[in-house]
Amino acid sequence: MMPNTAPILVLDSGLGGLTVVRALQKVLPREEIIYFGDTARLPYGSKTAETVTTFVRQIIQYAQPLHPKHVVIACNTATALALTTLRPMFPHLTISGVIEPGARAAVEAAGAVEQPVIGVIATEATVHSKAYDRAILRRRNRARVLLRPTPLLVPLIEEGRPADDPVVKLALKQYLGPLMRRNMDVLVLGCTHYPILKDLIQQIVGENVRVIDSAERCADDVARRLAGANLLRPVPSVATGSSADSVAMDALDSVEPDLRCFVTDNAPRFRTLATRFLGVEVAEPELVSPDDLYAQPALVAPVRQAG
Ligand code: DGL
Repeated sequence: MMPNTAPILVLDSGLGGLTVVRALQKVLPREEIIYFGDTARLPYGSKTAETVTTFVRQIIQYAQPLHPKHVVIACNTATALALTTLRPMFPHLTISGVIEPGARAAVEAAGAVEQPVIGVIATEATVHSKAYDRAILRRRNRARVLLRPTPLLVPLIEEGRPADDPVVKLALKQYLGPLMRRNMDVLVLGCTHYPILKDLIQQIVGENVRVIDSAERCADDVARRLAGANLLRPVPSVATGSSADSVAMDALDSVEPDLRCFVTDNAPRFRTLATRFLGVEVAEPELVSPDDLYAQPALVAPVRQAG
């Protein structure tokens, strides 16, 4: 049986999945998180389903010796293109993504509006997959879903450009303008990189548009799944009535989030940007060569039981 102290594996093409890590650390501060950023092969958003599925399969396979209790595909592109293909490849693992929680939150945010206009900004691959349209329309078939690919945003964010950078502002205004002219009720940030710019995006679209952060919703979904499977890391027990109580309680309050990172290229650069983004010192990530990912043995297909 899987121990509840096992880590959670979170993966993305680069920095973007750290928005999910940040949200997970907020809702599940005691969990150990292993983060894998595939920085050598970023971006995923312009690649085919076959390629992205291969990359993510290799990462999950590589992380197997760390025995994760759950895998979070903290990438909308990989969720859209690869999640359903990957699940049967790892039948002993639970794997979740970002799109279903994001779509659910968008529909909830639309509230009682009869024909809500829901905008989604995402990578080209996510937009073309139609995964968001399907997930939203399944829940609210009268919604109007407007999808907009925003391919410049991931490279700008990975470059470490801040929200007050004029190029970032210009790109966002150009991308969001056509959606704003259609009177959006809700805007989904359909790429885990984009919540890094959430405040600026909210400022541009105005306070009448509900901006949905798919990373936060994904973290809530993971918390629910782990609680449902009885896999939440237990709170250390504190003996009551002893003089050591207050010291022990202080220790519980100051629990440090436990994060171990792996990247496929330029670990020092990732460390600098991750430290800036998470607001706490992040240790130098371990470097994994893509050659090592490709050199792994082929997965043995799960044997289906007859009957
Ligand atoms: N952060 C990812 C997403 O949510 C991928 C960005 C990319 O590599 O293009 O789609």
